[in-house]
Amino acid sequence: MAKLVINEWKKEGRIEPEIYGHFSEHLGRCIYEGIYVGENSEIPNVNGMRTDVVDALKELKVPVLRWPGGCFADEYHWRDGIGPKEKRKKMINTHWGGVVEDNSFGTHEFMELCRQIGCKTYINGNLGSGTVQEMSEWVEYLTFKGVSPMADMRTENGHEEPWVVDYFGVGNENWGCGGNMTPEFYANEYRRYQTYVRNYDEKHPIKKICCGANVDDYGWTEGVLKTAYHHCAPQFHGLMDYLSLHYYVHPEGWEIKGSATDFNDQVWYKTMNKALYMNTLVERHGAIMDQYDPDKKIGMCVDEWGSWYTCEPGTNPGFLYQQNTVRDALIAGITLNIFNKHCDRVKMAALAQMVNVLQAVLLTEGSKMIKTPTYHVMHMYRHHQGADLLQSSLSEVEEIGIGEWKVPKITESVSIDEKGAITLTMNNLSIEAAETVEVRFAEGGYKVTEAKIVTNKDMHAHNTFEAPEEVVEADFADYTVTESGLDVNMPANSVVEIRVEKA
Ligand code: AHR
Repeated sequence: MAKLVINEWKKEGRIEPEIYGHFSEHLGRCIYEGIYVGENSEIPNVNGMRTDVVDALKELKVPVLRWPGGCFADEYHWRDGIGPKEKRKKMINTHWGGVVEDNSFGTHEFMELCRQIGCKTYINGNLGSGTVQEMSEWVEYLTFKGVSPMADMRTENGHEEPWVVDYFGVGNENWGCGGNMTPEFYANEYRRYQTYVRNYDEKHPIKKICCGANVDDYGWTEGVLKTAYHHCAPQFHGLMDYLSLHYYVHPEGWEIKGSATDFNDQVWYKTMNKALYMNTLVERHGAIMDQYDPDKKIGMCVDEWGSWYTCEPGTNPGFLYQQNTVRDALIAGITLNIFNKHCDRVKMAALAQMVNVLQAVLLTEGSKMIKTPTYHVMHMYRHHQGADLLQSSLSEVEEIGIGEWKVPKITESVSIDEKGAITLTMNNLSIEAAETVEVRFAEGGYKVTEAKIVTNKDMHAHNTFEAPEEVVEADFADYTVTESGLDVNMPANSVVEIRVEKA
């Protein structure tokens, strides 16, 4: 029996809601079809945004949304996506599937989407192939109130009031698709470009995100900070608020990737092992950041994470459309627990991607929409947003797995909200055996107010348009309240969420 000790008197830092953020790129059917269908569509919509999708995202409490890419961002020229739609440029989306991009979803549409969802805005600028002037004018167009060429243009395009841009990414993956730069070259470019990402609205200063590393490229983190950090010292504060990190789980490696739904037991454990690797990445990149920024003023922003499999048979390989099984529920559960536990450094993250691409929370087909297992996990975990992480530690956890792919059987994180409600999220990574977890609090006397589970006996189970409820968030009752805590019997391959309050 595993033991989980929770010290409800020891708060370890705030879990920023933005850790539960999302990413939407002009890629495959994420934006077009998945989110935006246009005002004239027969699919119910408000100003072109699918009502079913927006409603589902509101239930998820999406805190922040990143757009327009990804690799797409460093080829995106924002002027192509404003003004009358019939006049907007039609072009080829060179990165993703070679399809026609008609630019009908642009700046105004993105800001409208965030308004409807009720989330913060994270715009990723183009440093790779755009100019300083172009980036600077986009920020002016978005946020300047008063007389200026860009503010006038915005008004002519039907939006007199400036918007609030909460976060601005100065380039994306500039070590790769964003220009193949060296860390030193990028860092100098970052210093230059970000100078002109001006704060026109003192009440809502834009937080700037510097492009961080790919996976374990610690040299990138070191090189960028060495060149750019000292301009971000307190006297220059505001030049760099976040440093990003991208990490995808490819079960069979980058070349092969592997099927989303057809995998064996060994690949299950390999996937779990690779999901847990996020912990090493956060700690090692975090240790480099600590050398420059011991007070943790700069947040780590893991703005691309999730599973990346071989796309579904018969779909455009450039669309990155994949199914989502119980295995993805576990990847989400494990990763979000890691972010919670590192909330002193990880201040923002974005699951890739929101609809119809990679580890999506929603899938659409024509007018139909389904929620994936990942959606249900993120829904259960939403209670952690803005809560304080509590000190918790596991012991007597079995190591399981096949061959070299070893993992701990259980992972967890615990938080307390401002009303004193405690949320505990746990994962059982075993596909063979249930596990009883003996949960003990420093002080007893709690009652359970909510208990939910995402699981299915079959690790391959997933939701389809024909059978949309194979893996859902269900009520969970397999626990016993004890004097000082709970004994929770977690089925194999499950994600469990339990909320307790003082009895
Ligand atoms: O999310 C898909 C792609 O993965 C993004 O465009 C890019 O930033 C990353 O390589």
